[in-house]
Amino acid sequence: TTIPKFIDPLEKPKVARPKRNLKYPLNSYYELEMKEAYHRFHRYFPLTKVWGYDGLVPGPTIEAMKDKTTYVKYINKLPKKHFLPVDTTLHTANDSPEVRTVTHLHGANVFWESDGHPESWYTQNYEYVGPKFRREVHEYTNHQPATTLWYHDHAMALTRLNVYAGLAGYYLLRDFMEERLQLPSGKYEIPMIIQDKSFNEDGSLFYPDGPQPPFPPAPVKPSITVGHLGNTITVNGKVWPYLNVEPRKYRFRMLNASNRRGYIFRLSNNQPMIQLGTDGGFLTAPNPINTIELLPAERTDLIIDFTNLAGQTITLMNDDTESAPPNEHTSVIMQFRVCVPLQGKDTSVIPTEMAPRGMDLHTEHAHIERDLPLTASVDDYGRLMLMLNDKMYHEPATEKPSLDSIEIWNFINTTPIPHPIHIHLIQGKIIGRRPFDVQKYLNEGILEMGDLELPRDYETGFKDVFKADVGYVTSVIMHWKDFTGNYIWHCHFLEHEDHDMMRPITVINDAHP
Ligand code: C2O
Ligand code: CU
Repeated sequence: TTIPKFIDPLEKPKVARPKRNLKYPLNSYYELEMKEAYHRFHRYFPLTKVWGYDGLVPGPTIEAMKDKTTYVKYINKLPKKHFLPVDTTLHTANDSPEVRTVTHLHGANVFWESDGHPESWYTQNYEYVGPKFRREVHEYTNHQPATTLWYHDHAMALTRLNVYAGLAGYYLLRDFMEERLQLPSGKYEIPMIIQDKSFNEDGSLFYPDGPQPPFPPAPVKPSITVGHLGNTITVNGKVWPYLNVEPRKYRFRMLNASNRRGYIFRLSNNQPMIQLGTDGGFLTAPNPINTIELLPAERTDLIIDFTNLAGQTITLMNDDTESAPPNEHTSVIMQFRVCVPLQGKDTSVIPTEMAPRGMDLHTEHAHIERDLPLTASVDDYGRLMLMLNDKMYHEPATEKPSLDSIEIWNFINTTPIPHPIHIHLIQGKIIGRRPFDVQKYLNEGILEMGDLELPRDYETGFKDVFKADVGYVTSVIMHWKDFTGNYIWHCHFLEHEDHDMMRPITVINDAHP
């Protein structure tokens, strides 16, 4: 059966309200309860069981201000049994409680104890906690430029299921520079969290309990797969929604929070979109682009100008063919209908300059360059397993940057698919990519590279997720500043990070032994 599209209006996620707590400054403390709830994904669907922050999908948006600390307590009120198929062979899942949670603030410059490390998980009432659990209340100092951050579950070996169940939301960090830019704001600034989902006939969420089709058959049941692709697209928790807009400029904060699917966004009238920012914040100047690819966890901040489009209907398309063969359903995201009369003069502007220059990273300042292969292997059960640096997660850290050092990481992708590589704590820049001879590298260990290709037009800003292309060495530069401790880096395809494409990072202070 086909699900009718553009039936439900796009909703803006609810904004979180601070809670009174005398231990913290006024308006700085939040509590979000992770709860089982029922959510309407489509007007014609029955209610769907979800796990959401405050029971909402997506979770409430936390609005934060640069340099003003926010405190968040994410309270686990979830059942003891998972409603999605748990694979107990992964990581330490066999001797841990079945339902574990920990919330990571993705893209944040943060103490490791508040980062939401996968081993910092906890159960209801903190009855059981993981080996790296340190504190109940996360402290976010917000010492970084304004940008689109997001929070999501990161529990060891459960991330793919907990995020798919609904545990994700926005964290919009603002600063005074952004306020001065006079960008479209209020009801003209709209977060868009894009996730693909599959549903059973009864409206419940479908997540496979093994490879589909079952070839090769899974040696264990339930078994993780190499990635679940949903057959519907949701935006802010609605399947293929529409948005009625005025003929004026709108600002969209887009986030791909899908498990495995990448998107290439394009407007059906082929009008350019004005990109303002990437994962790490504003670009130096607005950047008109016709298409933009977002792999899981990537964000973009952009303006769409509907000024001269009164009466028209524009569809946001998905041109991606790399994550799945295209079809008429998943190639469509949502619809904009320019049908609302202008409510007043559009006084918002597209600025000429944004982030101050001079904070760039230069390769000649790098202290260390690391060659990091992305490889395919086989686990103890004979299943395909992807790895970083040829190591499984539980092996000791090999990436130990020094505090206040600049590093270059070269992701050598030897696998037949691209991977969105995410590094906690930092915002870095893509230097470029060089094609290399994969067979020569795998057989003889020799890295033979072609000419450097510069980053794509939409990935020139600061980022925390980097696309490691097939057959390329992708080079990224980053500055390890502000914090020491235990962080991680991993592929943000959630089925990859859970099995076993994730590695520890230890940031050390070796200047003062
Ligand atoms: Cu968005 Cu380590 O994750
Ligand atoms: Cu991957």
